[in-house]
Amino acid sequence: MKDLLGQALLDYQNGNHTEDIITSTNISDEDTLPIPYLFREYNDMPKLEQEALKLAKGKVLDVGCGAGGHSLYLQNKGYNVKAIDISEGAISVCKNRGLKQAKVSSILDETEHFDTILLLMNGTGIFQKLKYVTQYLSHLKTLLNPNGQILIDSSDIQYMYEDEDGGLWIDTNSNYYGELDYYLSYKGKNETPLTWLYLDFNTLKTACLTVGLHCESIKEGDHFDYLAKLTISE
Ligand SMILES: C[S@@+](CC[C@H](N)C(=O)[O-])C[C@H]1O[C@@H](n2cnc3c(N)ncnc32)[C@H](O)[C@@H]1O
Repeated sequence: MKDLLGQALLDYQNGNHTEDIITSTNISDEDTLPIPYLFREYNDMPKLEQEALKLAKGKVLDVGCGAGGHSLYLQNKGYNVKAIDISEGAISVCKNRGLKQAKVSSILDETEHFDTILLLMNGTGIFQKLKYVTQYLSHLKTLLNPNGQILIDSSDIQYMYEDEDGGLWIDTNSNYYGELDYYLSYKGKNETPLTWLYLDFNTLKTACLTVGLHCESIKEGDHFDYLAKLTISE
């Protein structure tokens, strides 16, 4: 990983924001990811993220924290928050912004226990592929204190496979339709391609059942997106 995302976040923080990140996937054309969006304040966050922050309780882990906006909001409210990200640049930015506990780490290496685990801005993306979902969920479950919760958002992207007549062109012999090859470039450099998973609610719920997690839909967004709360099944 070249950590182009981290470089873009650092550039923005240092006043060198001259261009945004360009993204594309195997099923969609180029799009822009505006770097200021990654520094959004509470009032500019989607309703699903605001709802997740309202539901936060106890000791919090923010997984894939990026520039740390969610963590900073909760830290300012007095919560004990730990933020992790695999991007060194992102964690530098979080520390510069005043986050007390920010660490370069992958979720699978985390061992502490928490009352709330946040995975936001398509949190299921971190699972990469449908076949890894139960592995990630099982691990996340081991990090929960009794009565703890995982708050995660994602989208059902079936609509991206609709043609103009409303027909679907999903190849049923291929992988799960929410598994996308994701390409990112910044200032003329290409990041190592990654796989990013969008998971529909029912598939997430089924995966949760197999690892002993209860999965509840908390809120639906405007565009096939949702916020789910996962708790340990009784
Ligand atoms: C879409 S960004 C979301 C950033 C932030 N949560 C937000 O809402 O602005 C996803 C983040 O997850 C991080 N990430 C990807 N895989 C990860 C992993 N296995 N463990 C921790 N962080 C990871 C990426 O480096 C990136 O910063």
